[in-house]
Amino acid sequence: MEKILVLTSGGDAPGMNAAIRAVVRTGIYRKTEVWACHNGYQGLIKKDIFRLKNEDVAGSIQRGGTILRSSRCELFHEKKERDKIKRFLKQKDINNLIIIGGDGSFRGATTFSNEGGPKSVGIPGTIDNDILGTEYTIGFDTARNTALKAIDNIRDTAFSNSKYFLVEVMGQRAGFLAVDVGIAGGAEFILTPEFPLTTDELAKKIMAPRRKKESLIIVVAEAGKPGRSVRIADKLRKLTPFDYRVCILGHIQRGGSPTVVDREIASRMGNLAVEAILAGESNCMTALKDGHLTLSPFPGEKAHYRKLETDKLLKLSSILAS
Ligand code: F6P
Repeated sequence: MEKILVLTSGGDAPGMNAAIRAVVRTGIYRKTEVWACHNGYQGLIKKDIFRLKNEDVAGSIQRGGTILRSSRCELFHEKKERDKIKRFLKQKDINNLIIIGGDGSFRGATTFSNEGGPKSVGIPGTIDNDILGTEYTIGFDTARNTALKAIDNIRDTAFSNSKYFLVEVMGQRAGFLAVDVGIAGGAEFILTPEFPLTTDELAKKIMAPRRKKESLIIVVAEAGKPGRSVRIADKLRKLTPFDYRVCILGHIQRGGSPTVVDREIASRMGNLAVEAILAGESNCMTALKDGHLTLSPFPGEKAHYRKLETDKLLKLSSILAS
């Protein structure tokens, strides 16, 4: 009987539990044994693996985070550790891995399978939505809705207290969260790593003639520098006659009950991942392309990732908020 081991690796994302549930339910339906480990690759290093049955994923689809917990496992980069895992999985007759995580986790899986490790199929999960090869990664829709709710709350106090706000959203390398939340939140300006604005340029835009605005929202993608909006606000206070408040949303964007989008896409991706493994596929991930679910090769060794291709939505946001 085929055995599949599923794990979650890297930053957690809402919807991962729906994917785990779909892997377990599809795997058992297709007469395979489904195994799992806690804390991503760290669990494999600790040989902390266990069987999952249908009842083990009951009541999980609505839960944020991952019931398998996750980690960013530096040890897995060491070949001697991967060789130990390879021997262990061979003893257990486990030849198939499903990794729910980001491109860093997939690169590890590619190296592992190229060294004779198990076949690997990935399910893209990160709230950043920046994995090359797929238009959608699990967690993105829930995170942007969480951030939008926060912006709507901030808008109330910005209006009441005539304040200019910088709201910092996650997004380690790309501005997908920032642009969607900026447009939907009616932000006057959106700062992303793909289309950077110096603080001087931003100050000029804020000071440009416009209808008098008692309040203003600037959405800032953290761009791998969490807290950068504090430094931007300090400079803006010197460059403009306005006072600014800063709200860094941080890890609340990583939690919360997944939306229907995340639950549905995660469920479909979990199902497809099992079917792909059983069809002999490896070194690929489930992906959404032109709105269709398909398989896409793992992103290559180089740390390429998906970026915003145009700033048209950033410009539109400023027009619509004028
Ligand atoms: O990659 C997802 C993400 O949430 C990024 O948006 C963020 O910059 C990073 O993880 C935070 O990393 P950690 O979970 O290690 O604090």
